[in-house]
Amino acid sequence: MRRALITSALPYANGEIHLGHVASTYLPADITARFLRMSGVEAYYVCASDDFGTPILIQSEKEGKAPADYVAHWNRRDREDFGRLGISFDYFSGTSSDANVRFVQDAFRRLDEAGHIYRRDVVQFYCAHDEKFLPDRYVRGTCPHCSAADQYSDLCEACGRIPDEISDPRCALCGRPPEKRTTEHHFFRLGGFADRLSGWLEGNGSLQRDVVRYVQNWIRSGLEDWDVTRDIPWGVPVPGADGRVFYGWFDNHLAYISSTLKFLEGRGIDGEQFWNSAEIYHFIGKDIIYHHYLFLPAMRMGLGRFKLPDRMPVRGHLTFQSRKLSKSKGWYIGLADFMGSYPADYLRYYLASMTPYSQDDLNFDWDDFAARINSELIGNLGNFVNRALGFAKSRFDGRVPDPGGEDPGPAGLISGLARGVGGLLEENHIDRALRRLMEFSAGFNQYFQHAEPWKGGPGAARCVYYSVNAARSLAIASSPFIPFSAQRIWGQLGLEGDASAAPWEGCSEAALAPGHAIGDPEPLFARVEAADIGRLKGGMGR
Ligand code: MF3
Ligand code: ZN
Repeated sequence: MRRALITSALPYANGEIHLGHVASTYLPADITARFLRMSGVEAYYVCASDDFGTPILIQSEKEGKAPADYVAHWNRRDREDFGRLGISFDYFSGTSSDANVRFVQDAFRRLDEAGHIYRRDVVQFYCAHDEKFLPDRYVRGTCPHCSAADQYSDLCEACGRIPDEISDPRCALCGRPPEKRTTEHHFFRLGGFADRLSGWLEGNGSLQRDVVRYVQNWIRSGLEDWDVTRDIPWGVPVPGADGRVFYGWFDNHLAYISSTLKFLEGRGIDGEQFWNSAEIYHFIGKDIIYHHYLFLPAMRMGLGRFKLPDRMPVRGHLTFQSRKLSKSKGWYIGLADFMGSYPADYLRYYLASMTPYSQDDLNFDWDDFAARINSELIGNLGNFVNRALGFAKSRFDGRVPDPGGEDPGPAGLISGLARGVGGLLEENHIDRALRRLMEFSAGFNQYFQHAEPWKGGPGAARCVYYSVNAARSLAIASSPFIPFSAQRIWGQLGLEGDASAAPWEGCSEAALAPGHAIGDPEPLFARVEAADIGRLKGGMGR
């Protein structure tokens, strides 16, 4: 039996999920997970909140909360928001869970014993007033590249570069100039994996070629060992190093594995065996390629126990109205806010229809959103389903009529659907798969229009027979993309259970036999109104 384990980049437990995260990562992974489950693959979709790191510690301190409470809050919020969007995680944990902490510490010991870890003195900023080391975001100052004032020492928000030697450094907590102190850190020998990484990148034929090409360039220009510890009180404690914790990027991707093991243990499945016999998918955005294509596989090689990823689909950023997203400028859309205005499936449809299997950025445009939903989702799919079922209800007593013979046209459309859409989903072409599905629906709209069943001619029964069956095919094949609407179609067809429990191949069968009683047809969707779109557009930015 085919097995698959799917993850998407872990969201920082530090603020709400917004549409940018959804488009690049959670939705493509969810569609894939849903499709694979329906295809009979034993597929699980696992995720967790990313709980550690200096930005989270600083923010929790600012809000006067214990960091553990702070991340618990965002973990809960994320689950809620994802649930409303129909993101079908089998398990959602957190990197600060006991299971992950233990797993990370064990992984560290193994890496250390195998000689992949060493200790070295580093010079760090230290605030004598706060009696603290000041890694990353704890220091602000002037960016040496662009001279912008008051920037973090690990990221200049003005020029986007990393100011390795910030000028005029200040403690982010008290504003005093810090001193420099020597402290011992642990390093992971990333450089020692260069050849193996390079070989793996070449040998895995399922990674995006352009991504592989520039990761190879990074390797060629030399990999630096990673400083994997921090002197802060929030993180996974480093075994045997008093008070020191791991850098967030040491522990977070290990939660892909630890969460999977924990989840499978609960189901009585041997997790390590499952992992090593499954196709491993990690869905990510393009800003974290370095970590996933170098750090993650190198650590897994060092551990020598858990198989490397088979696929790591990388997608681009989402812009809004062609402008780069910015939280501080209010130029973004929170997931919960969006769902206060429109159903989850509208967002799923719109984003899926434009998310390519590439790093190209995609643009969220309110007018385009309205046009797509009204003309495609409603005008094409909704309209067809409603016509077909409405007709069966009013003219055939709510029953599937006897076709009285085969028609190769519509029969061929139905029999080609599973492979047409499924083949593209297998290859991660979510936008093209959805387009293929909409072509099916458009084809049936035309067929219906041509057959003119309203004239009551001899072909009317055959047309309605195929059309109602096509609506069932649409319910199944649209289920990974728009699960809530698919389920409503399913109910209106008078079918029991869940559309998502139907085997994928079933969308290529005309399985509704003559005499089957359908349910009550109702419009599936409400139009997106221009006035509402105008208001939403006006509300963006601050
Ligand atoms: N929290 C990280 C980010 O948002 C992603 C972590 S993915 C993992 O950039 F692999 F490291 F877990
Ligand atoms: Zn200070």
